[in-house]
Amino acid sequence: MLGSDIQLFFQRKAPESYHTVGITRKDVDLANLELLAEFLSHLKPHIIIHCAAFTDVDGCENQKEKAFLINGKVAECLAKYAQTADTQLLYVSTDYVFSGDKGSPYGEEDPIAPINIYGHSKRAGEVAVLELAGKGAVIRTSWLFGQNGPNFVKTIANKAKTDGKLKVVNDQRGCPTFTVDLAEGIFHLVEAKASGIYHLSNSGECTWFEFAKEIVKEADIENVEIKPVPTKEFPRPAKRPPISILSCEKYNRLTGKPLRHWREALRAYFNTPSPEYNP
Ligand SMILES: NC(=O)c1ccc[n+]([C@@H]2O[C@H](COP(=O)([O-])OP(=O)(O)OC[C@H]3O[C@@H](n4cnc5c(N)ncnc54)[C@H](OP(=O)(O)O)[C@@H]3O)[C@@H](O)[C@H]2O)c1
Repeated sequence: MLGSDIQLFFQRKAPESYHTVGITRKDVDLANLELLAEFLSHLKPHIIIHCAAFTDVDGCENQKEKAFLINGKVAECLAKYAQTADTQLLYVSTDYVFSGDKGSPYGEEDPIAPINIYGHSKRAGEVAVLELAGKGAVIRTSWLFGQNGPNFVKTIANKAKTDGKLKVVNDQRGCPTFTVDLAEGIFHLVEAKASGIYHLSNSGECTWFEFAKEIVKEADIENVEIKPVPTKEFPRPAKRPPISILSCEKYNRLTGKPLRHWREALRAYFNTPSPEYNP
């Protein structure tokens, strides 16, 4: 979902000096670290934006080995290459490295305390990238939605159309982030040759319930009943942080280009024809 919007942004809006190559599973299976190292030595990238991950948060709980391989070891392999080839490496990470107990927005230096395997495995990837002093950047983001991939916006819009009745969790707060906006933000970080940790999400915050109400409104779906429910009504294998809003002050200071409010981004998502997003 994010990777394709990054590819599109760089191909359409970045200066011509960027020659962008989108890498998918068809090019290389990341689980094969030897093959990955060989692949990199042939491709010789100057910049790597690493968006691939094992993103099934619940699936990670009983596939711990796969989670640490794809989310941790792959980043380690990329970092090793970046070290020797003097390559800029940007690793996309998650708000789920935090416990969600702080009660206010998380800054980059706040204590890490993942409460699920996905968060632990993404933290392993962060550590590998951060060891690349001066050349490695970790970009933590949250609650992604975009045209290319299953996500909450599509799920809610589809369910609202077909069922007309929804129950949505109202005790988890975060910030939805449009992959098109995140792609542009990542471009600015590349241009600034940023290293270290940056939080980057759309502005504002909400619960999943509030997000769902806005989705139904923006999608123009009428006569939908949405009921707010507590997390405990939807027991899932992986725990979720209750409040994982990211403070993006550091990014805003560096670039002077804060991402717009998530409501505005959601409107743009519904107002943009899908083919625009098919690279
Ligand atoms: N989605 C969110 O809400 C969210 C929130 C915070 C942070 N993030 C982070 O943001 C980044 C992008 O997320 P996303 O939602 O755009 O992810 P996504 O749509 O799930 O895409 C992940 C990509 O990784 C690829 N991949 C996984 N294992 C692979 C392997 N062994 N070999 C080659 N490719 C492999 C997948 O390929 P296949 O499709 O072929 O499996 C897929 O294209 C990730 O790092 C994620 O951790 C996401």
